[in-house]
Amino acid sequence: MTKSLSGFFGSVLEAALTPHPVDRYLELVDPRITWTDLRAEVIAVDRRSPRSVTMTLRPTRQWTGFDAGQFVQLSTVIKGVRHSRCYSPASSAHRPDTIELTLTSHDDGFVSKHLRENVRSGQVLGLQPATGTFTLPAERPDSLLFISGGSGITPVLSMLRTLVDENHRGDVTFVHYTRSAEDHPYATELAEVAAARPDWTITTHFTRPTSETDTDTGGHFRPDHLAGMDLGTSQVFLCGPPALHQSVSDHLAGLGVEANLHTEQFVLVTPADVDDDAPAHGRLSFAASGTEAQNNGDSILEQAENAGLTPEFGCRMGICFSCSAVKKSGLTKNILTGETDTESDKHIQLCISKPVGDCVIDI
Ligand SMILES: Cc1cc2nc3c(=O)[nH]c(=O)nc-3n(C[C@H](O)[C@H](O)[C@H](O)COP(=O)(O)OP(=O)(O)OC[C@H]3O[C@@H](n4cnc5c(N)ncnc54)[C@H](O)[C@@H]3O)c2cc1C
Ligand code: FES
Repeated sequence: MTKSLSGFFGSVLEAALTPHPVDRYLELVDPRITWTDLRAEVIAVDRRSPRSVTMTLRPTRQWTGFDAGQFVQLSTVIKGVRHSRCYSPASSAHRPDTIELTLTSHDDGFVSKHLRENVRSGQVLGLQPATGTFTLPAERPDSLLFISGGSGITPVLSMLRTLVDENHRGDVTFVHYTRSAEDHPYATELAEVAAARPDWTITTHFTRPTSETDTDTGGHFRPDHLAGMDLGTSQVFLCGPPALHQSVSDHLAGLGVEANLHTEQFVLVTPADVDDDAPAHGRLSFAASGTEAQNNGDSILEQAENAGLTPEFGCRMGICFSCSAVKKSGLTKNILTGETDTESDKHIQLCISKPVGDCVIDI
């Protein structure tokens, strides 16, 4: 059957089965068979450090691959409710048939803790297409510096592995910060790359060394960790906790080469020039649920959660759009840009919007 004919019959079948789309029926038979939904089967699970789980996923046929550094939204059902979170593949973009994700479990992290403890081979998880602009330029730079901290290793490791697969001839330096050798899920892989590419520099610094084997205890970022590098000619890709971002950004800004820095963060950090401490006022009303709260100045997503609501979210930092909802009325401020908005009946992202005075949201 040609693609257009199968698309036609699919649409007819989908319409006939509405309001239950075809995939709702197919998942009763086998959740790995889907008509339109993108999903992924977990084909391997490796709990290689006390706080992490590395999963190898085989996506369904709708998957179109990813660029190294991008992220996917992964979803799983916990106690009958579907939860989505963003994760960056750590595997090479040149091996798109499977995706390797490594999650670090947070003590009070709902999804990461659940998957660390419960995910198993054979399980089928929800997936969204890869997206994100934290990617290598199509024309690979001659000199690349990757800096990562903790779970932030995943997107830059994907870039490193992609360059290995390309047999990239340029200079590559990879500097990773992790608590200890025990807490490092990718020690073996980095050692393998270092052995295969002795012309590249790969270093790991331990910030909380726990044993005598944690010999390379450079601690937190210091400019001398980049000694000998010409940062003026390198493109720098950085992913890690806010303190690492701050230190590296300050260092590059001090050298006047901050334009060479490309960053990704896993948590929302309000830019210093946008953060304001004006007292919050007004009431926040959630129209669909008939709930109200005194505006406390937090994001609308946080205030909704504090009011007992459970709006959908993924990244909590304005990049995945899972939290979009209609603002019926009121003035809101974008936490990332500081821009205000008075338009009514407009979709806004709850995670990066805060109310300025009275505001009505349709959740
Ligand atoms: C683009 C992108 C890519 C990401 N890629 C990865 C990845 O490859 N591997 C990975 O482990 N995580 C990654 N994350 C983080 C991931 O999406 C989740 O935020 C994380 O797994 C925590 O989810 P949770 O449900 O366990 O925590 P939640 O229940 O949502 O939050 C619980 C608590 O943990 C805090 N918290 C949440 N995330 C972090 C964090 N990253 N660091 C410190 N505190 C946090 C929250 O502030 C909250 O207090 C990525 C995030 C983004 C936006
Ligand atoms: S949760 Fe991703 S944009 Fe709001």
